[in-house]
Amino acid sequence: MSMTKPRQTQPAASVTAAAPLSGSFCVPGDKSISHRALILGAMAIGKTRITGLLEGDDVLATADAMRKLGARIEAIGDGMWDVVGVGAAGFISPGTPLDFGNSGTGARLVMGVVAGAGITAQFTGDQSLSRRPMARITTPLAETGAQIDDGGTGRLPLTLTGAPMPLPVDITPDVASAQVKSAILLAGLGAPGQTIVREKHITRDHTENMLGLFGAQITRRHEGDTHIVTLTGHAQLRAHDINVPGDPSSAAFPLVAALIVPGSRITLENVLLNPQRDGLIRVLTRMGANITRRNERKEAGETIADLDVVHSPLKAIDVGPDVAPSMIDEYPALAIAAAFADGTTHMPGIGELRVKESDRLAAVEAGLRLNGVAVQAGADSLDVTGSSTDKPIGGGVIATHDDHRIAMAFLVMGLATQKPVSVDDTHMIATSFPNFFDAMAGIGAQFDR
Ligand code: S3P
Repeated sequence: MSMTKPRQTQPAASVTAAAPLSGSFCVPGDKSISHRALILGAMAIGKTRITGLLEGDDVLATADAMRKLGARIEAIGDGMWDVVGVGAAGFISPGTPLDFGNSGTGARLVMGVVAGAGITAQFTGDQSLSRRPMARITTPLAETGAQIDDGGTGRLPLTLTGAPMPLPVDITPDVASAQVKSAILLAGLGAPGQTIVREKHITRDHTENMLGLFGAQITRRHEGDTHIVTLTGHAQLRAHDINVPGDPSSAAFPLVAALIVPGSRITLENVLLNPQRDGLIRVLTRMGANITRRNERKEAGETIADLDVVHSPLKAIDVGPDVAPSMIDEYPALAIAAAFADGTTHMPGIGELRVKESDRLAAVEAGLRLNGVAVQAGADSLDVTGSSTDKPIGGGVIATHDDHRIAMAFLVMGLATQKPVSVDDTHMIATSFPNFFDAMAGIGAQFDR
């Protein structure tokens, strides 16, 4: 995870499923909510108990960072964690760099925290994170008065010093990004008056939901097509217990596996179905997927359900760009489903995929082509031509580029191809889905490692 530790490569290959997938399991805790529970718990006064926390490398890096800023954070056992916060104004400048490993969410949200707290911190990450753009965060944070030293690279490593008296800002980000929105809002907690973020496309709203739970004054409204979030600063957050629901972005992989392996029928329990996160389910349903939501319930302002998934013949569709923010992490899984769908699935308006943990448009295009699938990536689009009856040949060895979702997507593909699919590395899967291999084995999906 750290910049300095040597990387161990752990290749794996899928074994084409001889039998249908069956059974049920709970996907691990939602990564976005897990990061935010630790961060807001650390910014609040009092003890926040978190249950169902995703104990993946990305989230553990955020826990370490918040500890270095002064919060007390302890694992009690099996996804249960206690966070004793020091208040947003109680943080200290850490003596050593904050290392976020592979995690863009952790690094970017904590930049907002540091900007609002008037302290100095160095931010570092692994090779993949050090390639990702940070100006989208540091530019708006500079408007609060924060000083950023990145040597002009717009990348990590960088040092950020929050202003002694941060200013409230009113910003319309250029990119549809919950990370950008969240960093601005978290910095706004340390500013007087109102911090405003105007989104042209609404993105996941877990920060807003959780800030409300922790007692901040936050409002949301639509003006035409613009989604406007207004936070009143200098708020004192109060601890609030959080039960983290299952991650729909992790559920995507077993879900697509069940859709493409003939005869499969599985249940994924306790999956978060926030309307800003359930785009994949809506798109796959339009493609003919048999997915049923059961036992729908609300917890801490979020909708949760169990999903029954049955193997289905899929048909290609046009996936409009408007749905992209609600499934931005799910395109690798969707591209695999598209390889098993009759016709050409068009996916425009997804240039953001080029700056995720890897250039996912390039990685998906290269991987599908290696497995005999007709695919074309444009600057910000992907077209995949598939068939629900003629299985792709498979047999490719996929370059994962330190990207957990590329690894899981192609391992899933190999469950239903003619020849096994291999990936060059699986160790990054631990960033988001640490029990991926055990959970998949539990529904009958086998991998050689
Ligand atoms: C996340 C937001 C998304 C997503 C990432 C998690 C978050 O990134 O890709 O995995 O928790 O806020 P962007 O906000 O950059 O689109």
